[in-house]
Amino acid sequence: MTDALPGIDALGDLSGSHVLVRADLNVPLEDGVITDDGRIRASVPTLKRLLDSGARLVITAHLGRPEGQPDPKYSLAPVAVRLGELLGRDVVLVGHDDSPGDAEIVLLENVRFHPGETAKDEGARDEFAKRLAGRADYYVDDAFGAVHRKHASVYDVARLLPSAAGDLVLREVEVLRRLTEEPPRPYVVVLGGSKVSDKLAVIENLLPGVDQLLVGGGMCFTFLAAQGYDVGRSLLEPDQIQACRNFLATGKVTLPVDVVVASAVSADGPTDVVSADAIPADQMGLDIGPRSVALFIERLAGAKTVFWNGPMGVFELAPFAAGTLGVASAIADLPDAFTVVGGGDSAAAIRVLGLDESRFGHISTGGGASLEYLEGKQLPGLSALAGG
Ligand code: 3PG
Repeated sequence: MTDALPGIDALGDLSGSHVLVRADLNVPLEDGVITDDGRIRASVPTLKRLLDSGARLVITAHLGRPEGQPDPKYSLAPVAVRLGELLGRDVVLVGHDDSPGDAEIVLLENVRFHPGETAKDEGARDEFAKRLAGRADYYVDDAFGAVHRKHASVYDVARLLPSAAGDLVLREVEVLRRLTEEPPRPYVVVLGGSKVSDKLAVIENLLPGVDQLLVGGGMCFTFLAAQGYDVGRSLLEPDQIQACRNFLATGKVTLPVDVVVASAVSADGPTDVVSADAIPADQMGLDIGPRSVALFIERLAGAKTVFWNGPMGVFELAPFAAGTLGVASAIADLPDAFTVVGGGDSAAAIRVLGLDESRFGHISTGGGASLEYLEGKQLPGLSALAGG
């Protein structure tokens, strides 16, 4: 798909022009404070490149899911400040009806404050896309994390202006393509996170081509149930048990052999480590146990390609972080493997747990987007850039 994607060079001379840049600045906030600025940092190189080429920037981005109306909780104000610090220049935050004046770098307030951005109705989206397009001469999409959304600022606007993929989007797509086109073997995929149903399509698509699938996180309990184990009060999706049985029948799936259990999701309560086939009825599994980490490390040994998406447990709470830390460290330590971390929670986990990002081959900025790419889906943002 990248072959067909035009890059920034294809736009020609940008000096003196206005470039509308769709960035993914959707960072986690706690009480208005950014807790992980990874996505803002990832956006900086393309923005700098455009500034160096003499362009003025009109940046558009979303934060959270404010459902088509302004909500101060989802304001991009803290993001504007952080972006300004990283660029070393002023970033002016303006509303969608405001004029930016003569500013060199404008950040439009949360694009999802406007109902046209996410509207199902094409006419409503198109009308809003025209307003965005009216602010610029060119469009650059560098929001890899949002390319799977058929939204005005991602999809429709690309049809209204001369458009290009930003360098982040090109790099992300190139890496994911390497995973789908004869990756060096052994190829091990590590999946975690809460729901099997979210990962069903990606497992179906990847499993035939991988050598091992290691499953942790909340989704492992539906697999354990498919093996006939009682999972107590752990997360369980009964309607996915049959799908898990089918995956297990391939013989490529490795499940945890022990789990960390507790009676509540709390950083303070008592915890225990039990065998995966002996989870007490009144307890829930919240992390994979130490024997499972050792088993997963064994399965990862010698891997030449690794894709990891989804934490192994509730890593945000210290008693349930060891599984994710152990598996992430093992992936980082692999001597000569091409390792890809598939965005969202797993990327945040690496930073929150203090692992060195440079020890991974690639950390994607897109969770949902990277999974949908690996599911083999057409991603609207990429199709629009490719002229499709
Ligand atoms: C993400 O957080 O994965 C991207 O920013 C997309 O956000 P969304 O899932 O709210 O569309």
